[in-house]
Amino acid sequence: MPEPSFPESTSLEQSADEASLRPQEFESFHGQTKTTERLMLMVEAARQRDDVLEHILLSGPPGLGKTTLANILAQAVGSTLHTTSGPQIEKAGDLAGILTNLQKGDLLFIDEIHRLHPAIEEYLYPAMEDYRLDIIIDSGPSARSIQLNLPKFTLVGATTRAGMLTSPLRSRFGLINRLDYYPVDELSVIITRSAALLQLDITADGADAIASRSRGTPRIANNLLRWVRDFAQVKSDGHINASIAKAALAMIEIDDDGLDEMDLRILESLIYKFQGGPVGVSSLAVAIGEDPSTVEEVHEPFLIMQGFIKRTPRGRVAMPIAYTKVGMTPPQKEGESP
Ligand SMILES: Nc1ncnc2c1ncn2[C@@H]1O[C@H](COP(=O)(O)OP(=O)(O)OP(=O)(O)O)[C@@H](O)[C@H]1O
Ligand SMILES: [Mg+2]
Repeated sequence: MPEPSFPESTSLEQSADEASLRPQEFESFHGQTKTTERLMLMVEAARQRDDVLEHILLSGPPGLGKTTLANILAQAVGSTLHTTSGPQIEKAGDLAGILTNLQKGDLLFIDEIHRLHPAIEEYLYPAMEDYRLDIIIDSGPSARSIQLNLPKFTLVGATTRAGMLTSPLRSRFGLINRLDYYPVDELSVIITRSAALLQLDITADGADAIASRSRGTPRIANNLLRWVRDFAQVKSDGHINASIAKAALAMIEIDDDGLDEMDLRILESLIYKFQGGPVGVSSLAVAIGEDPSTVEEVHEPFLIMQGFIKRTPRGRVAMPIAYTKVGMTPPQKEGESP
């Protein structure tokens, strides 16, 4: 996002902004109440028994708070969070290095856990279940397995693709939480909180205007808020209300439903190039020049949730409101009406 430079704002302040917006404790984490209530209960139960937290899986689209919750959990149990990600663990030795560095009660956060190498996953099973690591040293006839005992730790896995997790891995988590897109009123609260931290002057309808264009996603809400701040500062007196927010977001081509340029391209392509579908996600991705996994993880879930497209066994299908969105009359197809 282009960020004009102003004499009074230094880049140091900008990065302090970033860090300070991430909630540090459950109290400042708004929304996802089902998940946070469960997590708080687990923390309390573990505390009463003086035990270590069960392994926890957090799934859901990008920017909804998985990393934030992992940090909050570590803070809540008062232990250290070690962070890594699926693709980063290339060899069994990498995993052994990480696991043997843990202290009792530590949290190991594995981001993008669905991208763990299958061979590494095998090593993780006994580590999660029995806090034991069986590693094979040497190869051929002299190969032998040695066992390392590990301290009792908590694995917190995060994934944007829960469906891609193997069932043995999934079944080893004590609690599986799916984060959902945030409703507009919750995003409004999040924006208001961020605005206060950034010391911005914003009206309630200004916060609502940003919230309703944030695709149900706090990360997007914060990014849009920063853009609106810049816009308000340059084009006006810094004060943010609904009309300033709308003008600012129109300038970066975010429409009233929060759809961005890529979302619109997906809908247009689905309707104009593929006659409304059904079409496979990879053909659709090629048509718009985007990576299939980005279409599937970032754009599609939101478009489906908003009712623009539907996933069918034969592929993606445009729904009537998608036609209206691109300025066409929805066709009257038998069996396809909503
Ligand atoms: N419930 C919330 N309340 C307030 N702010 C939030 C909340 N959830 C997320 N945020 C903000 O959104 C940003 C993105 O959240 P986070 O990094 O936790 O997402 P994520 O689910 O880990 O995304 P990814 O899948 O891309 O890693 C955070 O920096 C935080 O400031
Ligand atoms: Mg994350």
